[in-house]
Formats: sequence, C-alpha cells, structure tokens
Amino acid sequence: MPSVETIEHDVVVLGTGIAGLRAAIEIKRKYGDKINVALISKIHIMRSHSVSAEGGTAAVLYPEEGDSFALHAWDTVKGSDFLADQDSVWLMVKLLPEEIRLLENWGLPWSRRPDGRIAQRPFGGHSHPRATFAADKTGFFEMQTLYNKLLEFDNWERYDEWFITNIVVEDNQYKGLYAINMRDGNLYYFKSKAAIIAMGGGGRLYNFTTYAHTVTADGYAVGFRAGVPVKDPEFIQFHPTGLVPSGILITEGARGEGGYLINNKGERFMLRSDCAPTKGELAPRDIVSRCEMKEILEGRGFKDEVSGLGYVKLDLTHLGEDKINERLPAVREIAIRYAGVDPVEEPIPVRPAAHYTMGGLHTDKYYRVLNEDGVWIKGLFAAGEVAASSVHGANRLGSNSTAECLTSGRLAGLLAAEYVLRTPEVPSASPDRHAKEESWVFGLLKRESGVPSYEIRRKVRNVMGEYFYVFRTGDGMREALSQIIELRKLMRTQMYVEDKSKVYNTDLQAAIETINMLDAALVAVKAGLNRTESRGAHYRLDYPKRDDDNWLKHTLVLRNGEDDIRITYSPVAITTWKPVERKY
Ligand code: FUM
Repeated sequence: MPSVETIEHDVVVLGTGIAGLRAAIEIKRKYGDKINVALISKIHIMRSHSVSAEGGTAAVLYPEEGDSFALHAWDTVKGSDFLADQDSVWLMVKLLPEEIRLLENWGLPWSRRPDGRIAQRPFGGHSHPRATFAADKTGFFEMQTLYNKLLEFDNWERYDEWFITNIVVEDNQYKGLYAINMRDGNLYYFKSKAAIIAMGGGGRLYNFTTYAHTVTADGYAVGFRAGVPVKDPEFIQFHPTGLVPSGILITEGARGEGGYLINNKGERFMLRSDCAPTKGELAPRDIVSRCEMKEILEGRGFKDEVSGLGYVKLDLTHLGEDKINERLPAVREIAIRYAGVDPVEEPIPVRPAAHYTMGGLHTDKYYRVLNEDGVWIKGLFAAGEVAASSVHGANRLGSNSTAECLTSGRLAGLLAAEYVLRTPEVPSASPDRHAKEESWVFGLLKRESGVPSYEIRRKVRNVMGEYFYVFRTGDGMREALSQIIELRKLMRTQMYVEDKSKVYNTDLQAAIETINMLDAALVAVKAGLNRTESRGAHYRLDYPKRDDDNWLKHTLVLRNGEDDIRITYSPVAITTWKPVERKY
C-alpha cells in the first residue's frame, strides 16, 4: 500500500502570486466549471511576494499622447541589451493595455490624473511615462483585485501552506508533483493533465535583497531537477534603491516622480558623461546600479557604521510633503520605520539590492516549457518571474515584471486549459517514483546531528553577495563556484534537521529550500563564468564589452550529475531590431 496519497485535478497552478492568480482566472473565465483547478502555495495567497511590488505596471494606454507598442517594445529590447526575444516582447506589449483595463473593471483603484483617466508615471529606460500605478502599492492592489476576482468562480481549490518538493517529467511529459501538507506533515502526489509553474524568483540567494524570506528559488530548482533547461540564469537584477541597511524596496517610482541620486559631494552623479547624461536617474537599472557602485567603491559614497554597507542617497525633499504623501506613501513609511529617515526632510540611504532574475525556465512566447531541443514538454507551462520567454533578456526594465506576470499568466492559463480539454488522460509517474520521493524528503530527517540548514543558507548568501553582485570577475566566480560546491557537499553529508515532528515542520521545509538555493546558485554562477562578455546585468570587469559575435545567444543550463551542469544555447529571436550600442 503506497503511503503517498494521490490528489487529482485537471490543472495545477504552482504559486499564487500575480502570475499564478492570473492564470487561474483565465482558465475560469474562459472555461468556467469545465476545468478543475488547484492552486498550491507554501504560504497564504495574500502573502505571496507579488504584494510587495510597488511602482507600477507598464502598458501603452495613450497612443494619442505619443506612446506606441513599437516604442514600448523597442525600450524593452534596448533595455535587455538585445538579448530579449523580440517576438515575445511584441506579444507582451500588445496584450498589456487590455490587462490594465481588465484590472480596472475588476475593481483595481488605479491612481488617476486630474482629468480622471488612469495615471502613468515615468520609469527607468522607458521613453514615455507608461508605468500604471496605485500609489506605491501597485502589487498589493493587483493581488487583492485578482484574489477577489478568483473568488467569483467555482470548481477550484486552494492548497495554502503546501510545500512542493519536486515535479515529475518523464518521456518529455509532465506527470505530476509532490508536496508536503505542512498541517499534517504527509507527502502527497498531485496528478493533473497540466501544470503552470508560477513560483517566483530567487532573491533570497542574497542577504541584501528586496525579496521576502519566502523567495528561495524553489521554481527554478524543481524545474532544473526534473530536467528542464534553465535559461540565462547569469542575469540577476540589482535594483538601484534598496534601503540601507535592510534592503527593503524603495520604488523606482520615487525617481519616476522626480527623485534624484546624490553622492557625498552632493553631486547628481547619474548625469555625468560616464553614467547616463540623457536619462540620468531614469536609465535602466543595470546602468544605475553600476554607477552607484562606482561612487561607493571610489570613495564618493557614504557608509552605514552599523552594517558596514556603503551607500548613496536618494533625495526626494524637493518633491514636497503633499506629493510624497499622495504618490509615495509607502516609501515614506518604510524609510521612517526602517531607516529612521523622513524623506520629506532628508535623503534616503540606498544601494543596489538583488531584485529579479531575468532568466528562468525555458519557454516559448506562449509560456510552454521547452526541452533543450526546443520541443514543448507536454502539459508543462511556466509564468511570471520563474519563466524565461524571454522578454527581459539581460536586463529587465522596471514595471515590465508585473506586466509580464499578467500576460504570461493569461497565456499559460489559456493554453493549459485548451490542452486539458483536448487531452483525455495522461500517464502517472513511474511506479517507483513515490517511494523515491518519500525516501529523499523524509531521509532528510534521519541525521541526528550536524549543520543546520540556516547556517548553510547564510554561507550561500555571503558567497553570492561577495562574488556574484553588480561587478564580477572570472577569479571571483571561480572562487564562488568552489565554495558553492563545498557547501553542496556539506549539505549532502552534514545538513541536519533538528525538528523531527510532523506538524508544521518548517525546519524540514527550510532544509529543502536550502537545497533549492544551492541548485540555483550553482546554475547561476556556472553560467556567469561561462559567459565571457558583459551584457546587461552580467558585468565582468575582465570582459567589460558586449560581444555579439560570440554571445548573442541564450544560455541553457541542464543538470549533469550531483555538482555538475551542462550548457547549451538557443538563438535570440531578432525580428525587428538589430543590436546597436546602448546609450542613455
Ligand atoms: O521599483 C519598483 O517599484 C519595482 C518595480 C519593478 O521591479 O518592476
């Protein structure tokens, strides 16, 4: 008698952020009760990290005022340092205006202009103000609106506080997943015809990050372990304005509203010719973060005496209290509460913080997950940050993330639903798979002493922050790799789960999250070492130039044994614009 119980649904959505909810809504609004949907999340829906998105969602709303799909697509492609797949970008930008209007119809209180129409603000790298916002709590309102909308439908079930341990792909087909119900501590097998992986990013690979503690690269890891190629993992975005010392996001909307960055001489360094004389603070994030770090490393920054972190300052004082209260209320509250600084009166201490992974599970423009030969893995889709279709290439523009969560969720949901309706039955995982999973998961409880996962996790973060931050070198990445491989060995031979109980064993969950982080760190650093050029967020001091002759291609990373990977490549879809020098 197998001890792993089976739960069946038509479609399983893994993750309940904006992408996951949007996918579920698309299935329901198109096919209603015909399709039975499960939403699985390790946390409560409204605690998904998407609620922390602040500044806005990009969309072309006012072509009559000079914006256009072509301009949005061009800004995105140039921002990506020409690594974005242009067919994916076109599809996203064309779908976005409808997404904004749907959210409006579903009740989202967008901020308004004096004429009553939906307001939009400037964001970095965009040549038109197109970040659609609800003050500086956009993600929260988007989540709330999507959640409310989903509640209108029947025939779906939520599995909050269920922790996904692995997915199963056999014979190029999705065959289910395993998850621990944290309430009873048992392992379950979810069988479904289709799955949409929408498990977010991996920001907690770093100490200094804008991410919630829950964001532990789980989606990349379960895909990678199942044999899905991870595309472009070397490209990790550092947001220029993480609050010092916590890393909490100070939205780019603050610069969109007119805030500027200053060094210890009071100079607006972003306007210097070696930074971005035209765009200044509203250059893309890779450029602003590099300029900030240059100020700090060359002695023109400030230092936080307690954390030891260097920083620059974000000045909003000239905006005035009324504008700050109306447009940036969360920024004010966060800065006062977590840095003791009131932005109405003094500048805010900021430095680059890990914020986004441009890479992710390899998908086509419709968010079908692909194998290394570019063939769809039947039944498997990905959406949101964990997916790489790739609209962001080597560097994402601010406000294109919640944007992609909406469009990718919609596309993946629609295609998953259509697949389910035309697919009578799918095979289950092979007979020995349940036992293998059980022994892997509960085997982690066997060791009676050793190193707690928290210690290993802390070391991974230190390695990533030291050697895989804004500036990288071959020597640094080699050092990072050797330390990550040592930490993987430590994890395998000594990682110890102290809590042996069944109910809410968060110690066991943390151990698996740590394994996930070690998988994601290995993949990212190996890919970074392999790419001998600088492009977008991957800046190598030993290869400071972009090299289109050799590197205008996507990295695909595959598993190849315990501590090894295999790298192949896939072409970049260049449908409209040839790469040119990127100037701002
Ligand atoms: O700064 C922000 O509000 C972040 C937005 C984004 O990453 O798209």
